[in-house]
Amino acid sequence: MRLHDCHNTADFRALARARLPRPVFHYIDGGADDEVTLRRNTAAFEACDLVPDVLAGVETVDLSVEVMGRRIALPIFLSPTALQRLFHADGERAVARAAAAFDTFCGVSSLSTVALEEVAALGPGPRLFQLYVHKDEGLNRSLLERARAAGFDALALTVDTAVGGNRERCLRTGFTSPPRITARSFLDYAARPRWVWGYLARERFRLPNLDGHVAEGTRVALSVGDYFTRMLDPRLDWARAEAIRAAWGGPFVLKGVMSVGDARRAADIGATAIMVSNHGGRQLDGSRSPFDQLAEIVDAVGDRLEVILDGGVRRGTHVLKALAVGARAVSGGRWYLWALAAGGEAGVRRALALMRDELVRDMKLMGKRTVAELGRDQIRWR
Ligand code: FNR
Ligand code: LAC
Repeated sequence: MRLHDCHNTADFRALARARLPRPVFHYIDGGADDEVTLRRNTAAFEACDLVPDVLAGVETVDLSVEVMGRRIALPIFLSPTALQRLFHADGERAVARAAAAFDTFCGVSSLSTVALEEVAALGPGPRLFQLYVHKDEGLNRSLLERARAAGFDALALTVDTAVGGNRERCLRTGFTSPPRITARSFLDYAARPRWVWGYLARERFRLPNLDGHVAEGTRVALSVGDYFTRMLDPRLDWARAEAIRAAWGGPFVLKGVMSVGDARRAADIGATAIMVSNHGGRQLDGSRSPFDQLAEIVDAVGDRLEVILDGGVRRGTHVLKALAVGARAVSGGRWYLWALAAGGEAGVRRALALMRDELVRDMKLMGKRTVAELGRDQIRWR
């Protein structure tokens, strides 16, 4: 199987699986506990069906939306995800270039493996910096100042990581950052010599945004769950979130809001947007899916802030359903990470192109020219 044989997210996932060492593949793919939420995040889109309008005379489709202070060409963007150089040797460089080429937001994680300044210098694309609030207050200040100096358009504060989720696949494979080749995982890595070559031939693995502050994740190997529990500040609360919004000053997003009450509080502290998200099912298993929560959150706060649906999206029709319910935009992680692992920048570009083509085709079949024309009349709940 090659990149041009990939026609959908499942194909990219299959190719990623063939290219990545087992621990790395399962780090991307897995969720917490029994992975009920992971599965539900995607299954939820089947709770409703699209109802098309015909004879609408649609020749061209405008997929653009305005979100976090920018007009972007696609209604779906790339959620911030950690450790991308483990998925492909080009890592964040590949992802940021592809996102810029399609004029959509690229999320850059606090735990990125290319420095946030280097990603920002890759070109003018819309960019979102994701902040993990650490116990080390100097690090938090430094991340904020660096993101501002580098010209990021918006800041997303992740709020669903008070402790690490229980990722049992990672416990079984022994996945850590940096990856550690142990007696148990030796064969997993030996089975992927191309990956090992790509990893060893390039610059040393680092989390450059953390330089000078913490050795964990770079020189001290830790699972991601342990990293959250040990390094992130569990005292993070609403007052602190509001102070971070004020210190940042620009478009500000809370990533990981799930309840109507919290969505209201997000509006109260002046957030520009919320990402309705359960971290892709990687934190609290049994959590409701973002799509299942979307309508009540849009109804409660849709006139006060932008509601972004994050997670579970594998198809253009998933995006259209979320937009029809009232999301301002949609985001996701695995749909482009599998493509990154499958083929680097060319892979992410292919995932974006397929998604764009799918969205244009589906909009035409729905009889809609612009995202604004999609509303709840276009869906029926089962
Ligand atoms: C993530 N996610 C994430 N979120 C975040 O705020 N900071 C981060 O560093 C990461 N890292 C990360 C790594 C990997 C491998 C995955 C799969 C996810 C969560 C991410 O931003 C997003 O919320 C989910 O990926 C959404 O679910 P889907 O689209 O993957 O189903
Ligand atoms: C994860 C991170 C790093 O979910 O947010 O693995």
